[in-house]
Amino acid sequence: MKFPPRKALGSNEIKSINQVIRYYKKKGIDPGYQGYFEHSLCKKFSLMMGGGYTDACSSGTAAAYIAISALNLKKGSEVLISPVTDSGPLNALILLGLKPRLIDSYPNSYNVSLKQFLNRVTKKTKAALIMHIGGETSQIYEICKEAKKRKIKVIEDCSQAPFARSIWNKKYSLCNKKFVGAFGDISFFSTMYSKTISSSGSSGLVFTKNKKLYRNVLSHADRGKQIWRKNINLKDPSKALHPALNLNSNEFSSAITLASLNRVKKTIKGRIKFLENLNNDLKSSKTCSVVYKNFKLFSPFFISIHIKTHLLKIGKINFVNNIKKEGVPLLNSYGCIISDWKWARKYMQDKFITKNAINFKNNSFNLFLNENYGKQESRAIVAKIIKVEKKFLK
Ligand SMILES: Cc1ncc(COP(=O)(O)O)c(C=O)c1O
Repeated sequence: MKFPPRKALGSNEIKSINQVIRYYKKKGIDPGYQGYFEHSLCKKFSLMMGGGYTDACSSGTAAAYIAISALNLKKGSEVLISPVTDSGPLNALILLGLKPRLIDSYPNSYNVSLKQFLNRVTKKTKAALIMHIGGETSQIYEICKEAKKRKIKVIEDCSQAPFARSIWNKKYSLCNKKFVGAFGDISFFSTMYSKTISSSGSSGLVFTKNKKLYRNVLSHADRGKQIWRKNINLKDPSKALHPALNLNSNEFSSAITLASLNRVKKTIKGRIKFLENLNNDLKSSKTCSVVYKNFKLFSPFFISIHIKTHLLKIGKINFVNNIKKEGVPLLNSYGCIISDWKWARKYMQDKFITKNAINFKNNSFNLFLNENYGKQESRAIVAKIIKVEKKFLK
């Protein structure tokens, strides 16, 4: 069976490229920085987030770098970081001269709960970089509440969970209405080609509800320039406030991202439906299951499938590779556990190892999905899993 490709570069994205060409041809100018399409994208995104300010930039890594820079943390400051992410956000902390201090995930997850945050927070902690991995959320409402008491800034990485809602809190109805990225002081989203909101290339978004922080975002995204000022010549470097790199987005990327954003709710809905089917179908498996609950609040990106490895007569990797050989689209071992990166160890504040995150990696695999998967795909995946399981059950 062939699993349907995503084809994120759909007809609306293609139309949007033509729109950019038409718009600038008509204007008789070349597409530049902070133009019409970037403005439209940022306005729409802010609106969908429930109000605030957005800046588009060149990548998710750039967005992380800008968001962290905007907080003006002193060099050497201690910053807590979730155990699982792409290397970009960690590299941003390191290159900004900050001291990353790892937090573990809660058992059977790549995300962080308040307990793990409290286990690792110290009097020296100045900020916390909290990720929402695989479409599930961290316990962000409670973490932000505790962080605020301690004057700790919270940066959310929503790259893998745009428009997911927090599932943890006691004030369930409040968080049900609020999307991740709107809890912390500032948040960032990678919109690189394979993300739920896709720019069909490299791109990112920074979001905040705080106008002052937003201005810091703008200047840190473009060479220290006061982008918000209408009465100065932005091409004149003497008017800049501080040194910063050029991490600007562009009009084509913004227009494509806007087209993707316009159908993101539908994208997420389709993925949730698939996840519900899969969860149901997997009930017939003795070894594999989806450990998450509350799928309706998710923004599925990949699905971690938990394996009862003790029931198998072969190792986990061997078992998963057999499922992969059957054609199931999956990643057998997630590489994004920071504790596993030897090169990063010397930059960390201490030698803490995130045992829960490593344990989850060792007992799960990441199933890829997209919004074109339906009942048929779910049944086919589970049939393959059960076929392999029957062969290798003790
Ligand atoms: C959770 C997370 N954060 C940050 C990034 C970095 O984004 P980019 O690849 O756009 O630089 C990614 C994706 O690669 C990611 O998955």
